[in-house]
Amino acid sequence: MNWISIGDISEIPLRGARCVKTPQGKIAVFRTAENEVFAIEDHCPHKGGPLSQGIVHAKAVTCPLHNWVISLETGKALGADEGEVPTIAVRNDDGALYIALESLMMAAE
Ligand code: FES
Repeated sequence: MNWISIGDISEIPLRGARCVKTPQGKIAVFRTAENEVFAIEDHCPHKGGPLSQGIVHAKAVTCPLHNWVISLETGKALGADEGEVPTIAVRNDDGALYIALESLMMAAE
């Protein structure tokens, strides 16, 4: 597994996100109210909206463009909408965050 350091959890606001640019595209890294961290491609499965600018609630994000709700755990659209965005494994070592880019490559295959 190829773990890439993306900084500390304190750099992401609670119920917020930051966008990380990688060779494999932009990745949205979210921090929930419970201090869990999830990473998915920063690309809404509807029309490519920037999910990192959406509103985080529970373990989901609402896309800022047309309000699709995407699960941070599965990357799947919730409710009546259908679509999916690749998820990326996150490692949290006492607040130091890493993402696994290999999982993104596998998801894209
Ligand atoms: S682009 Fe995200 S809901 Fe339309």
